[in-house]
Amino acid sequence: MDAAAITPTLRWTGDSIEIIDQTRLPAELVLLDVRDVASAVDAIERLAIRGAPALGAFGALALVVGLDEAQPDSLDAARELLERLRHEIGDARPTAVNLRWAVDRTIDAALAAPELFGASTNVDSNSGSAGSVDELRRRLLEEALAIGAEDARACAEIGRLGREVLAEATVIATHCNAGRLATAGIGTALAAFYAKAAAGEPVRVLAAESRPLLQGARLTAWELADAGIDVSVVPDGAMASLIAGGEVDAVIVGADRIAANGDTANKVGTLAHALAAADAGIGFYVAAPTTTIDAAVPSGDGIVIEQRSPDEVHHAGGQRLTPEDAKAVNPAFDVTPARLITAIITDAGVLRPPYGESIAQALAEAEPAGSEAGRC
Ligand code: MRU
Repeated sequence: MDAAAITPTLRWTGDSIEIIDQTRLPAELVLLDVRDVASAVDAIERLAIRGAPALGAFGALALVVGLDEAQPDSLDAARELLERLRHEIGDARPTAVNLRWAVDRTIDAALAAPELFGASTNVDSNSGSAGSVDELRRRLLEEALAIGAEDARACAEIGRLGREVLAEATVIATHCNAGRLATAGIGTALAAFYAKAAAGEPVRVLAAESRPLLQGARLTAWELADAGIDVSVVPDGAMASLIAGGEVDAVIVGADRIAANGDTANKVGTLAHALAAADAGIGFYVAAPTTTIDAAVPSGDGIVIEQRSPDEVHHAGGQRLTPEDAKAVNPAFDVTPARLITAIITDAGVLRPPYGESIAQALAEAEPAGSEAGRC
């Protein structure tokens, strides 16, 4: 993979966010220029941008776009706007915690600036001049860009550790897309493949299609093939028998939200891979930055699963697949219980069961002393 030739998944242009429109891949590489809140929310909802860490980095930048669009004339007006955007952008998709977390972190960091609002956050600041709003914007942008940069570093570390964990594995299955298209860096689950390939180790990836929107068939296959990595697309329903037949050495997936006990929400169909892996006695790994851990949710029962339009199940490639009078059910994610997960590979280390303890310890170590930033 020629790093210089890679089109970034998302990029701040100076006054807008440029993203790859992932709905158009692999047929064509189309870039979208996002410069208003309605377009940002639309891009999130229809999965033009997707994947938990990428949603976080994008949502944070969308706040700056929203401020530029509204052009508030006082700090009070800007604060009111940001509180509205906290929900409008932060709630655009419910399961990936990185979106909620990044939007909250960016707004809270900018509003906490003592120079703008005084030492107390309750200070009435109608004194706001255009200069103060400019300073607020500068702080929002700084925080949003920091989130993307931190994610890129986390991806690199996850790749390094993932390669170590998967040292003995050559044929590795994955589900959905947890690669560079899903993050601000080289990915989470797919980072391990990039690290193995860079080290000259043999790797053959089995990418599950990930119906109904085919993130595995379209996106994982596209980015791995682009990087020269051996990838085969496998129908979702075929992966269990390949695993049971001894044709897979390990499974690695990303995550949208990891509860405090290690239960993990990821693209629907992940649970089937975990059950098959456990039955076959092979490793089932989750790769995710610590920003995907939601310590406020004790177990998977508390994770909200996004229900998407039945139309996504009824149609493929613009064609109706199902009879007109058939209904469809379309949960976007499922929850894999912690007991089925061999290890969680994070930027703060490789976490092993019991996850209640290893997760708490990783979060404590990842947390800058005295700061609540970075945690839900
Ligand atoms: O609906 P999507 O495409 O946003 O779902 C994405 C996934 O499930 C990914 O595996 C997850 O967000 C991790 S991305 C590093």
